[in-house]
Amino acid sequence: MKGARKLYVKSFGCQMNVYDSQRMADTLAPEGYVETATAEDADLIVLNTCHIREKAAEKVYSELGRLRRLKEAAAADGRSLLVAVAGCVAQAEGDEIVRRAPAVDLVVGSQNYHRLPDLVAHAARGGRVVDTDFALDDKFDHLAAPSRAATRARGVTAFVTVQEGCDKFCAFCVVPYTRGAESSRPAEKIVTEVERLADAGVREVTLIGQNVNAYHGVGANGRPWRLARLLERLAGMPGIERLRYTTSHPLDMDDDLVAAHRDLPALMPQLHLPVQSGSDRVLAAMNRRHSRADYLDVVARLREARPDLALTSDFIVGFPGETENDFAATLTLVEEVGYAGAFSFKYSPRPGTPGADMSRQLQEAEKSDRLRRLQRVIDQEQAKFSRACVGRTLSVLFERPGRHRGQIVGRSPYLQPVQIQAPPSLIGEIADVTITEVASNSLFGALASSLSSPCKGEVGERGEPGGGLTPPRTAVGGLTLPLPGREKIAGAGA
Ligand code: 5AD
Ligand code: SF4
Repeated sequence: MKGARKLYVKSFGCQMNVYDSQRMADTLAPEGYVETATAEDADLIVLNTCHIREKAAEKVYSELGRLRRLKEAAAADGRSLLVAVAGCVAQAEGDEIVRRAPAVDLVVGSQNYHRLPDLVAHAARGGRVVDTDFALDDKFDHLAAPSRAATRARGVTAFVTVQEGCDKFCAFCVVPYTRGAESSRPAEKIVTEVERLADAGVREVTLIGQNVNAYHGVGANGRPWRLARLLERLAGMPGIERLRYTTSHPLDMDDDLVAAHRDLPALMPQLHLPVQSGSDRVLAAMNRRHSRADYLDVVARLREARPDLALTSDFIVGFPGETENDFAATLTLVEEVGYAGAFSFKYSPRPGTPGADMSRQLQEAEKSDRLRRLQRVIDQEQAKFSRACVGRTLSVLFERPGRHRGQIVGRSPYLQPVQIQAPPSLIGEIADVTITEVASNSLFGALASSLSSPCKGEVGERGEPGGGLTPPRTAVGGLTLPLPGREKIAGAGA
């Protein structure tokens, strides 16, 4: 290992970027880069960007303005600071970033992270580099695996990218252009990666991909495995107690995957299944390739397999040509499905996508008004679901200390944050918590074992269908998900 230098990676956007950021840090670790939590003392800053909506790219440019001043301050101190831009903005804008932001030393597209050590070395010698080719070789074959210590430091939950890119070409979406065609990692490579995570103490794994349920990686027998087969393989792995996957497209929800929600106790009863709109006219214009009825049919099949499934979604308001009637159909769909929560966005025309060239673009004020109205309905559904949790006992995987003294925070099977007063020794453990209160989308409660309440007898066993949710075991209409900002990206794609 060479002399230690400090690396600060800032992720924008979805979980796929969080995962990529970690792998970039792992790949730079043998070069002597140690992660730091603050930009101020870094020798190399990587912004891992997101291009899904306009604001995201603008945020990157304003961040680069701040970094320019930081770079000047470092130079005044006799230090050199390198600034790299990675991710989808890098992929889409390439040279434009270097032209627009003089602080940037290097631009690396989302398929080329394994080349970072060489690119950084080149930039350190004073050359500005832009590398946004779609690499022919698989970046995952070259990206370094995290050390056991790095995995431990990242906690008891982990993301694993299983596929990238998308072939669906929804008319609003840049993903097929920035991340390219759908490609799936071989199952055995994913299994090995999850084994390593389990060995380092990870208990919950979320499989991620822009269109994760289109997964079709080559399996151990040389034939393609679909996502259900992969989940089944991972569900039996010692140490891995919980599995999730995101983000899914309704059309790729095949029968085996629906059945996995019934048959695999490790698969948590929570699913992010974006629908984008409740209007058939708009769905067709968006090239979603499914109708409202198709979507509701998938939901019904899923709820039959897993009655307590908490569903969340993404919505876009103000797609070109969306009428008040179309929008009303979106509002009724939210109530009909009974979402646990949802992310909602104003349509933002992305250059190069078909939607950007469509006539009948909506005024900003109209989009803002619809967004407000949609969020009101989503909030109502979410609140309903939160309230339905009070008095229930949920199994919680504790992840970290809370903000207040003596508090620890974990997640319910439905991905809700749950806060209790308990010793930090419980972090990494799964325990039953009786929910006593809900505030700001967080649940509060106490360890079921420390309560003398008769609830104890009702506590669901970990691993039983229902994931530890006590009766009633009927469809609850979704549970609250942590949605700190309703416009925050849940997971780019699908
Ligand atoms: N405008 C607004 N929202 C968008 N999304 C993707 N592209 C756009 C766009 N051009 C949203 C979709 C997707 C989520 C990740 O971001 O709802 O599911
Ligand atoms: Fe693919 Fe999802 Fe984008 Fe549609 S919205 S093109 S399914 S990533």
